[in-house]
Amino acid sequence: MKRFAVAVDGPAGSGKSTVAKAVAKRLGIIYVDTGAMYRGVAYDCIQKGVDCSDEKAVLLLLEEIHLEIQPTQEGQRIFLENQDITEKIRTQQIGQGASEVAKIQSVRQKLGDIQRAMANQNSVVMDGRDIGTYVLPQAEVKIYMDAGVDERAMRRMGELKAKGEKPDFEVVRKEIIQRDENDMNRQHNPLRKAKDAVYIDTTKMSIEESVDKILTIVQEKLGEV
Ligand code: DC
Repeated sequence: MKRFAVAVDGPAGSGKSTVAKAVAKRLGIIYVDTGAMYRGVAYDCIQKGVDCSDEKAVLLLLEEIHLEIQPTQEGQRIFLENQDITEKIRTQQIGQGASEVAKIQSVRQKLGDIQRAMANQNSVVMDGRDIGTYVLPQAEVKIYMDAGVDERAMRRMGELKAKGEKPDFEVVRKEIIQRDENDMNRQHNPLRKAKDAVYIDTTKMSIEESVDKILTIVQEKLGEV
């Protein structure tokens, strides 16, 4: 089978990481979580006391950064200077920081190049905000996953509670709206549905239903894989 790519874009909390990871597993190909790379840059900034919206300082840090992405059967792991930061980057603070560094064009170029190189070597399911529009405009399958704000906030609440936190619904909801605002209105490669992407509203769908739906679309586009 020829190499192929499934691009999955969508807003924060749309369920795309969970679903994209499961789709990759079912297809037996690698899963690339591009949001984790922006989170990795934000994590490095925060560790070093650099303001994520200070373009000059972030660019200096970017020249030295040593991020490594390791796809595994259980999902992607990410290393910063050989330290495994996969779990450490999954906080609200790092998510907001990632959304800030993601506004900077050179950050997007550098990470986009790494993402494209990964897709040149392997068949991938890649999730993010600009995969279908910018990183892999030739992807064989493009999906845009969405869900209503309240549902996305509820899902985020569930994740935070599972980590032992006591989140407030209104705070979580506001953060999601803020992140949508940042990601959809930034100057460079804002979150948009690619013209040829299939739109899936997962508000009332379970994870399994979303996975099956995407697998059906992949089969329709590529034949049995
Ligand atoms: O998917 P996530 O929540 O882990 O992503 C964190 C932030 O990274 C998101 O708010 C915007 C940015 N991002 C991006 O700009 N482009 C991508 N392809 C992936 C993430």
